Amino acid sequence: MDFKFTEEQEMMRKMVRDFAVNEITPHIETMERGEFPKTILHKMGELGLMGIPIPEQYGGAGMDFMSYIIAINEISKVSPTLGVILSVHTSVGTNPIVYFGTDEQKQKYVPNLAAGKMLGAFCLTEQSSGSDAASLKSKAVKEGGMYRINGSKVFITNGGEADVYIIFASTNPEKGSKGISAFIVEKGTPGLIIGKNERKMGLHGSSTVQVTFEDMKIPAANILGNEGEGFKIAMANLDSGRIGIASQALGIAEGALEHAVQYAKDRVQFGKPIATQQGIGFKLAEMATNIEASRLLVYRAAYLRSKGLNCGKEASMAKLFASRTAVEVTIEAVQVYGGYGYTTEYPVERYFRDAKVTEIYEGTSEIQRMVISKNL
Ligand code: CAA
Repeated sequence: MDFKFTEEQEMMRKMVRDFAVNEITPHIETMERGEFPKTILHKMGELGLMGIPIPEQYGGAGMDFMSYIIAINEISKVSPTLGVILSVHTSVGTNPIVYFGTDEQKQKYVPNLAAGKMLGAFCLTEQSSGSDAASLKSKAVKEGGMYRINGSKVFITNGGEADVYIIFASTNPEKGSKGISAFIVEKGTPGLIIGKNERKMGLHGSSTVQVTFEDMKIPAANILGNEGEGFKIAMANLDSGRIGIASQALGIAEGALEHAVQYAKDRVQFGKPIATQQGIGFKLAEMATNIEASRLLVYRAAYLRSKGLNCGKEASMAKLFASRTAVEVTIEAVQVYGGYGYTTEYPVERYFRDAKVTEIYEGTSEIQRMVISKNL
């Protein structure tokens, strides 16, 4: 067992850390005001960060899945908003085409996605089908060389800015999950209607919208895999997507702890730094220990995924534990800061608001428990 990163992984970590601290930090304020970080994403594309685990033959960096997870982690320590944009773009916006696309589909879309010239989104959730994803109502009807698609999706991350949407609709409603198919839809397709941005508790710089399909016609060649394979495509990509979100949650907790430790060392009460007083020292110790446990779960799931092994259970465990830890650690970080922590002058309230959704998207904690228990 080796707990060290490889030289390549460590180089990636340092490069992304420097990029996040120097290039992302100055934009946090504008993202908090709701601005989508296009300029930063452009730079991330130039650095190869939008296609880290994508094979070189399709324009990606061709690095292992662990390097990608490390990058999400380092970015999320500084900006959870960019962490989720990157994770959704790669894990569920690009990878479905890499793993299930035809060669033609891969050639057409993946190089642009991997270079960050296009942004990906994943449209599964609907108003009446969140956790019960297989009960989705969107329908796709084949008409000659086209599919006509009607339906509506909600809470679509990257949805207002994406160029490529992986969408799920039923081609055979009687067959339930086995009637669901996946499709690639391009921005600008007539009948693809993008709703307004949701106002959210956190992740203010990320775009979350409703996406509606009104008699949207797409070429039959844009089906991903075969008819009826859509649900499995969604689930298989969510396995790795959940490791990405777990890594984002880990980053949020680490970012909040870093600030809390520094503040506790600087803040003097009763004649000494609060870090040296047991009430705060023990709190920091607890936070750090849970973060370390999250890290081991995230890396273990990422290791299995890197080796191409089954990782569904481990991905769910990592997401379940790391997201809970992110929420708990950020609550405690606000507590360490006291009254200052409740103001927007300090970053911990932002981490606290950004943490909560990691227990919700890409499968709630309750769904992760279902996946884990089914696997026992
Ligand atoms: N990989 C491959 N296939 C899988 C799979 C996986 N991980 N999980 C299930 N399947 C297959 C099953 O094998 C089964 O096929 P067979 O009958 O041929 O064996 C089929 O899919 C149906 O499986 P289940 O009966 O287990 O399906 P279910 O209806 O009970 O649902 C569930 C399972 C785990 C609860 C699933 O519905 C689920 O994950 N729900 C949560 C949805 C979710 O995570 N949504 C996130 C939206 S995306 C998002 O949030 C992105 C963002 O914007 C941030």
